[in-house]
Amino acid sequence: MTKTSILVVGAGGREHALAKQYAKSSHVNQVFVAPGNPGMVQSANEYEAAISCVAITVEDIEALLHFAKEEAVSLTFVGPEVPLNLGIVDRFSEEGLAVVGPTKEAAQLESSKAFAKAVMEKADVKTAAYRYFKSDDFDNALEYLAEQSFPIVLKEDGLAQGKGVTISPDFEDAKLTLKAMMIDHQSDVIIEECLVGEEFSYFVLVNGKHTIPVGTARDYKRVGDGDKGLNTGGMGAYAPVDWADELLDEVNQSVIQPVIDQMVSQGCPFTGVLYAGLMKTEKGIYVIEFNTRFGDPETQILLPLIEDDFYDVTLAHINQQPFKISLSDQKSLGVVLAAKGYPKVYKRGMPIQLTEETVADAIRYAGVSKDADQLVANGGRILMVTAQANEFSKCRDQVYKQLTQLTVPDSFYRNDIGLHQ
Ligand code: AMP
Ligand code: GLY
Repeated sequence: MTKTSILVVGAGGREHALAKQYAKSSHVNQVFVAPGNPGMVQSANEYEAAISCVAITVEDIEALLHFAKEEAVSLTFVGPEVPLNLGIVDRFSEEGLAVVGPTKEAAQLESSKAFAKAVMEKADVKTAAYRYFKSDDFDNALEYLAEQSFPIVLKEDGLAQGKGVTISPDFEDAKLTLKAMMIDHQSDVIIEECLVGEEFSYFVLVNGKHTIPVGTARDYKRVGDGDKGLNTGGMGAYAPVDWADELLDEVNQSVIQPVIDQMVSQGCPFTGVLYAGLMKTEKGIYVIEFNTRFGDPETQILLPLIEDDFYDVTLAHINQQPFKISLSDQKSLGVVLAAKGYPKVYKRGMPIQLTEETVADAIRYAGVSKDADQLVANGGRILMVTAQANEFSKCRDQVYKQLTQLTVPDSFYRNDIGLHQ
C-alpha cells in the first residue's frame, strides 16, 4: 500500500493531538504541521509516522496552498479559526484539494454571533435571548440592561475563547462592566440571558447533511481551582461526559440536524467540525455557542479515545460516506500547564525539563519554542499532560503524578480537573 502525507494547519496542543492521530494511521507516512511547534517533533514515537514542522504561518493561505500542492498531501486539516475566516477552505476547494473545515461563509457560525443566532432562530433551536449593541450605542444598551433580570451575561464582541465574557450578578455590577466594555474598550457588546445548568461540548464532523458524531467533552475555562478567576482558552478537560452521552439522540435531533439543514437550505452548507457548546437546563438543551473547529484543549483528550484509523474517519467525512466512530470505553483527562500570569501578562523563555520518569507520549505541546537545543515556554498555555484509564480517578492520578515529573519555572496548573463529573 502506498502511504500518504497530511498537512495539519496550526501550532498548538490541538494540532499536536491531530498530528499524532494521523501519525498513528496505517495510511500515513508523513505529517506536516504548519507552523507547528518544536515539541511536536521531539515527541513522535517509534511506531508513528514522522511529524515535521513547516515554517508557514496560519494566515499565509497562498503559501499553505503552494506547499500542499508541492508535497501532494492527500488532505489538509485546519485546526484554528483564523485561517478559516481568511477563506482557506474556499481556496483549497477551488484548487481541488481535500480539506477539513468550513468555508469562510459557514465559519460565521463561530465568527459572527448575529449570524449564528439568526441560523438558530430560523432552525428553531433553543439559545439564550440576546441583543447586540454597537460601541457607540451605550445609552440604549443601558436602557435595555435596566429592563433585564439578573444575573446577566455580557460579551465583549471580537475577543476569542470566552475571554470577554462576564456574568454580572446585579444591575450595578453589569452597568460598570458595560461601561468598561463599551466606553473604555470601545467594544461592541452582546447582552445575553444567563442560562443555568450543566455545560458540555459535543463535536460532530459535518459535510452538508452528512454527519459523523465524534463525542462529548468538558472543558474548564476559568483559570483557577473551583472555577474562580478569569476565563481562559481552557485549563483542562475530560471526555466523555457520561451523563451527556445519554442526551445525544436529542441533541442530534433538536440541535445538530436542524442547524445543518438550515445551513444547506440557505445555500451555505457546513463542512468540517461543528463544535456545539451546550447547556442542559430545566427547560431543555440550549446552545451557548457554536465553534467551527475542534476545541483546544478538548481535542487533546477526545482524539485518543478514537479507536478507528483517523485517516479513514476524515476520508469518510470528505466523501460523505457513512462512518460510525468507535470510541474506547476508557476515560480520558488532561491538565494544562500554563505560564504564571496567564491569561494576562506572563513570562516566556522558561526551560522545560523532563525527568527519566516522564512519559513523553502523554504530553501535547502548545506554547513552546527552542532556545539552542532546549525546549522553552513561549505561550500562555505551554503544554498539556494527558492520560487514559478505566476510571477518571486513575486518569487524574496519572496526570498529576506526571506533572510532578516536569519542571517549568513560573508555571502553574489547576488541581481540580475532573474531580467531579
Ligand atoms: P463563550 O465565549 O460564548 O464561549 O462563553 C464562554 C463561557 O461563558 C461559556 O463556556 C459559559 O460557561 C459562559 N457563558 C456564555 N454564555 C452564557 C450564557 N448565556 N449563560 C450562561 N453562561 C454563559
Ligand atoms: N476550549 C474552548 C475552545 O476551544 O474554544
